[in-house]
Formats: sequence, C-alpha cells, structure tokens
Amino acid sequence: MSKHVLGIDIGGTGTKGAIVNVKTGEFVSDKIKYKTPEESTPKAILSIIKNMITDFEWEGKQIGFGFPAIIKQGMSCSAANIHKDWIDFDIATYFEEELDCPLTVVNDADSAGLAELLFGAAKHKKGSVLLLTLGTGIGSALFVDGRLVPNTEFGHLKWKKSITEDYASNRARKANNLDWPEFGKELNAVLNHIELLLSPDCIIIGGGISKSFDEYVDCFDIKAEIIPAELKNNAGIIGAAYYSTL
Ligand code: BGC
Repeated sequence: MSKHVLGIDIGGTGTKGAIVNVKTGEFVSDKIKYKTPEESTPKAILSIIKNMITDFEWEGKQIGFGFPAIIKQGMSCSAANIHKDWIDFDIATYFEEELDCPLTVVNDADSAGLAELLFGAAKHKKGSVLLLTLGTGIGSALFVDGRLVPNTEFGHLKWKKSITEDYASNRARKANNLDWPEFGKELNAVLNHIELLLSPDCIIIGGGISKSFDEYVDCFDIKAEIIPAELKNNAGIIGAAYYSTL
C-alpha cells in the first residue's frame, strides 16, 4: 500500500481533509476544509466528499474517514451532531459504492486518539490514556497500554439536565457565553466524574480548544496527568488516514 492516504475528518460543523504520509503522520498536501451542510444527510455529505476528491485529484485511491458517531463494522450506529439518517446506516458500503475506492471508517475521536498516540502528545505513553476532543460534541478515545478500546462515548454521560457534551464542549462554551475560568470549572467537574469511573493515568485535551489550554489549565483539580493534544485540529485527519493501514 502507498504511504500516502487521503484522510477526511467529517465533523458536525466542518469537514477537513489532507493527504497524509502514514509513516510519519505529516501532511503532504494543503488541508482543505468544507462547511458540513446544516442538513447533513448521507447525500449532502457525499457531495462535499466528492468535491474533496476532485480537489485532491484522488479518484480511486485509498481514503480513511473519521466520522462523529459510534462505528461498528463500517456501520454508523448513532448520530448526535449529524443528521439522524446516519443511525444504523452502512456508511462504508455506501461510500464504497458511490466513490469506487478502497476506504475505511472510524469514529472521529478514536482516529484523533490514534494520531496523538502514534505521532503526538501520547507517544510512548503506557497505562490508560484518555483523549477527549472538545468541539461541537465531546469525543473520547481510550487506550490501555497502547490498545484502543473503541467507541467510548464519554461526551454522552448523563450529566446535570442532559449529557456532558452539553456543558463542557466548545459548542457549550460558546452557546453559554462562558469565560475561560467558567468553562474550566465545567470541564473540571466532568473530568472529576470521569476520573471516578476510570482513574486514567493521563488525559489529553484535544480539538481546536487545546490551543487555549493555558487559559483553563489552572481550573483542573484531578489526579491524572493532564496535557494538551499536540496535533490540534489535524489529529482526526491523520488518525483516519493511519487507521486505513491497520
Ligand atoms: C458523538 C461521538 C463523537 C463526538 C465528537 C459525539 O456527540 O456521539 O461519536 O466522537 O461527538 O464528534
């Protein structure tokens, strides 16, 4: 297999892609971003993916997709921040038939976690490592001595009047007009709850918000080591491309 794979990270708000050297985790192209359509049906998402394939001149070649839902054997089994038509939808077969290329699909947070584990903040880390991506939702990726426990959904823990991602995601920060200390307090409460459930050795804060880590790190009061992701918003693309080589 070629060492270059197109990684596409489909998100609730934006869909990003780049050609990745899967041996080094580096981009060998520019990153291209499209707004995820409001009405994010399979057909609408397929249409921006087709645009991306044309942009990268990537017809018929290997693609790794990250997708914001529980993914089991190529099926999308949930849909929190994406159109409900994706629930129990055979995403891998649909893309294969429509795009006519070899491809894989993995949960977006699991892909970001893989990238951080191989090429970023969690490199060489042993024990239990949890990556949380704070974006439109909260995604989670759990590793035990380097092995992924797929499809954890720590953004969907029951919390206050709804679920954790409604209080501590980047979307919640913006929607509730939280300043950094207020946001840090919300996130710290969620982290304490997760710590009670898992006692992870290390927690990595990922997603675009990891760039502002210094603004809220002082709010944390947990036992686990807590560090920002290194690959920021690119982790999902890199991990999705890498996953297709496994
Ligand atoms: C979804 C997860 C996803 C996360 C980040 C959550 O709402 O349930 O599957 O990983 O958002 O996109």
